[in-house]
Amino acid sequence: MRFLPDLDDKEYDGKIAFVRVDFNVSMKNGHIGEDYRIRMSLPTIEYLTKRNCKVILASHLGRPKNRQNNYSLKPVAYRLSAILSKAQVSFVNDSIGGEVENKIKNLPCNGVLLLENLRFYKEEELNDPEFSKKLASLADIYINDAFSTSHRKHSSTYGAATLFNIKLGGFNLQKEIEYLTMIKENPIRPFIIVIGGVKIKDKIGALENLLPKADKVLIGGAAAYTFLKSKGYKIGNSLIDYDHLNWVDISLDKYGEKILLPTDHLVSSIQENSPPIYCKEHIPDGMSGFDIGKETIQNFSSQIGSTRKGTVFWNGPMGLFEKDVFSNGTINIAKSMALAYWRGSTTLIGGGDTMEGMKKAGVSEKEVSHVSTGGGATLRYLAGDRMPGLFILEQ
Ligand code: 3PG
Repeated sequence: MRFLPDLDDKEYDGKIAFVRVDFNVSMKNGHIGEDYRIRMSLPTIEYLTKRNCKVILASHLGRPKNRQNNYSLKPVAYRLSAILSKAQVSFVNDSIGGEVENKIKNLPCNGVLLLENLRFYKEEELNDPEFSKKLASLADIYINDAFSTSHRKHSSTYGAATLFNIKLGGFNLQKEIEYLTMIKENPIRPFIIVIGGVKIKDKIGALENLLPKADKVLIGGAAAYTFLKSKGYKIGNSLIDYDHLNWVDISLDKYGEKILLPTDHLVSSIQENSPPIYCKEHIPDGMSGFDIGKETIQNFSSQIGSTRKGTVFWNGPMGLFEKDVFSNGTINIAKSMALAYWRGSTTLIGGGDTMEGMKKAGVSEKEVSHVSTGGGATLRYLAGDRMPGLFILEQ
């Protein structure tokens, strides 16, 4: 795969670069929440504008059914203009067609143009050949800087890319690949994995790959209750992933010695809005677990925080951290991640919820070696799945 610096500067001069970015950010009433994905695209945009390119940015936002104003990327153009060092960002109400072509024609070299949400065309997700052709006809060079969408075989991530002679990976994509490949293939030991969140299904592939390499795997969040159930603990009404109980049984047989599970919990019968109750080991009938307990926090935190010059990968919150009463586990894990980083370990955080948890704990991005922009894509990459958006860059 070739990345931006692999091309001579003169090959950029005066060219139009189509850059697939992932500006799928959280949006409320037209206001952007977390803008991490936008900020991570800055190095690529700045690199291209400095080399006298016209930069065409293309992204999706959410999963709109058709052209819906609340899914417009226009607010992103304003945010981008505010944080780019020099270039002004223009916006066009469409992603293909005459108006887009005109805007590109009038764009100065080193200008930036953001196209409207690609998913306003259903053809985008269908990887429609005609739509791909129209996207590709807009530019001279193709750049993928959207690692977090590279598991999708869509027009902008795949079909259009096939039509360019020059296809490159952007800086954000490069950084993601470097860190995740290190974890997948050669993690510096001791290697600790911290898994939380709800769905085991999405994590199985990654865990299959990582479990043999890990020294310790700490499991919290709703995922833990399926493991505890498999070990014969009472888990009350807590969420169980029955479809994957068998996989959990096998993993515990094979890797039980390195898998650490919660030994205490904060539980509640949340439907009745009852206050949280602390319990050890077994969860009473009628109650569901919503956070790891203080003993587990202490154990997990010391495993993570005492890691010096190793690797720690964290994906998934430890509980229902959006509710303050159940946020203690996630907050403490985030703080321990920062401690491991300051003590010399390489630390990686993946997934939108995990990043929210990190923010809630007051841990900054600078206290983590790498915060992945990907959710599903990160796990798919770690699972070793073929990612169409990366595969095509290798052709
Ligand atoms: C993500 O947020 O994981 C990416 O932007 C991909 O979005 P999608 O799951 O809607 O394809």
